[in-house]
Amino acid sequence: MGVLILGGSKGLGLALKRQYEAQGIEVQTLSRTTSPKVDFSKMLEAPGTLQTLKNLKPDKIIYCAGGGPHGNFSAKKFKDHEWAFAVGFLFPAFLLHGILENPGEWSSLKQICFIGSAIAEAKPDPQAASYSAAKHALCGLVTSIQGEPHGELDIRLFSPGYMDTGLLPKNAWPRQVGSLVSSPEKVADFLATWLENQDHANQHQVFE
Ligand SMILES: NC(=O)c1ccc[n+]([C@@H]2O[C@H](COP(=O)([O-])OP(=O)(O)OC[C@H]3O[C@@H](n4cnc5c(N)ncnc54)[C@H](OP(=O)(O)O)[C@@H]3O)[C@@H](O)[C@H]2O)c1
Repeated sequence: MGVLILGGSKGLGLALKRQYEAQGIEVQTLSRTTSPKVDFSKMLEAPGTLQTLKNLKPDKIIYCAGGGPHGNFSAKKFKDHEWAFAVGFLFPAFLLHGILENPGEWSSLKQICFIGSAIAEAKPDPQAASYSAAKHALCGLVTSIQGEPHGELDIRLFSPGYMDTGLLPKNAWPRQVGSLVSSPEKVADFLATWLENQDHANQHQVFE
């Protein structure tokens, strides 16, 4: 198949799906609300989820899932922080390890891109500590692996700024400064073009 978008039911993932479909490219999205349903927070189910992804034989994977509790760290249940770590870091790490450990089983796969965060991966992000911790970890992982030998697979990290999606709380301060928040369509347009440019293979792109 063509492009597999993990977390493509809304927000940036959905905008990317529409972008690819408009170009006549085959797209499959997986999330908790699409069929087959997958939940990247359930690490006990992760081996089965990996097999589901492998069976689809994608050429390209874009991992868009992410999130976490909003508020003071101590005011939120630890299970909500665990959710943020699992979806934002642990599952992506498990996926990348599974692919690189057995590249022959993923022979159709040419490119994988993880979505970071221009803000949360690079600076403190009060009220979003576990989300920020997961994004810092994801950035450290992907950019380190980019510097290791990893065969022909093109491994990328794309880190957008604030986007007007359900993930950004309605009362978040960047929404008061309109120019700080991009539409997911604009970000998807840039991302899809960037991913096609082989000059940027194995790179990290920040887009604000
Ligand atoms: N919005 C921003 O301001 C912003 C800024 C910087 C970076 N980012 C990053 O950009 C990426 C996309 O964010 P977005 O704003 O488009 O978020 P979004 O609108 O909340 O969309 C998130 C997508 O991930 C899926 N998803 C979430 N948890 C999942 C789980 N446990 N298992 C399977 N699928 C799951 C959701 O689908 P279901 O609900 O159907 O499961 C949805 O399709 C994320 O990595 C986010 O951290 C966002």
